[in-house]
Amino acid sequence: MKEVVLGLLGLGNIGGGVWDLVQFFGKDVEKRTGLTLQIKKALVLDKKVHGGKDVPDEVLTTERNDILEDPEIQIVCEFLGGEQPAASMMLRALENGKSVVTANKMALSLHFDELRAMAKKTGAGLYYEASVGGAIPVINALTSPLIANHIEQIMGIVNGTTNYILTRMAAEGADYETILKDAQRLGLAEPNPAADVEGMDAAYKLSIMGSLAFHSRVHVEDIYREGITKVTAEDIAFGREMGYVLKLLAIGKDNGDSIEARVHPAFLPADHPLARVDGSLNAIYLYGHSFKDMMLEGRGAGDAPTASAIVGDIVQAAQNAVHPMPYLRPETVPVADDWQSKYFIRMQAKDAPGVLAEVTGLLAGEGISVSAMMQKHAVPGEKATLIVITHSAPEKAVQRVVKALNSDICQVDNVIRVEG
Ligand code: HSE
Repeated sequence: MKEVVLGLLGLGNIGGGVWDLVQFFGKDVEKRTGLTLQIKKALVLDKKVHGGKDVPDEVLTTERNDILEDPEIQIVCEFLGGEQPAASMMLRALENGKSVVTANKMALSLHFDELRAMAKKTGAGLYYEASVGGAIPVINALTSPLIANHIEQIMGIVNGTTNYILTRMAAEGADYETILKDAQRLGLAEPNPAADVEGMDAAYKLSIMGSLAFHSRVHVEDIYREGITKVTAEDIAFGREMGYVLKLLAIGKDNGDSIEARVHPAFLPADHPLARVDGSLNAIYLYGHSFKDMMLEGRGAGDAPTASAIVGDIVQAAQNAVHPMPYLRPETVPVADDWQSKYFIRMQAKDAPGVLAEVTGLLAGEGISVSAMMQKHAVPGEKATLIVITHSAPEKAVQRVVKALNSDICQVDNVIRVEG
């Protein structure tokens, strides 16, 4: 048996989940791997208030150096969340030759280069399976079993909160604010929901997955980002009538000389594998030149699913004599600021002769072809709702048309990309 001495930075939900998993399942891990996991210290703000159950007093510490500077601790697990002090603590642990296991997509995505460089310098390991998709082994999949592929596309539902909200909006025909409030009441959305509903959480995750999939740094600030706050029950209902399901997607594509990286609501055909991923579940759909398509699905959050990925990483960190570093191309491929998609354009237009011709004329002027069209509440002389679905078109051209469409006779209420 080999003893693995661990230090936990944080003992909230996730840290507490790891504590529980090691206590209740540690013996099984030992049988399967020959590793005895020992949590020596856990950093807390207050020894009396923490998320771990039955943690002996001598394990608790309020002093970070009891973990970062203890030569006996081999692996530091970081669950503090947020950028700082998490990033500098991880950096210090790596500097001291300790392997780091983290679930922190924000600190990892913003400090990926420094953390990697330090890990490379000292030979320590950096593991982050839990940072994307909770229990879903997508990081391992990209860095190991799928390595013999040119990954052309990633399309993920990587935020459980927004998937839960959109699923309920669709099922109940309810508006965004109503479901958000209920999700907050049930503890399924944060009191300040911005990071989830504005797509930041998904953007951090796309930054990490994209960098690994395309072997080029995808910086979070280069990712186009739009959240779900403007989506209405009407959009979802009209989309459904036209055969689509709405999801918040994190999309990455390798276009050769550029990479597409974007997070936004998108309609998917109802028979797309991601369209049936409901509630707080996560799923990542991948396309690689050898395996073709694949979808990984599971629980993307919660203490136990996240702890499952973390303990998996701890075992890998303890087993690897030499820690693998994912390959990144020396020249970073630029992230594109324009791309092709299909578009759902919902507008109110006066129901009068020639209006439709004007709308399609503006689209035609930008070389955009209409794939489907639907008109609702049509009363001559009054405003009707008009839905246009375009064929594939450049984003920038569509934005120009939307500007031009907003006039006396027409008002664009929402534009939603159509993928899949
Ligand atoms: N807030 C995230 C979600 C969970 O809703 O999926 C952790 O990344």
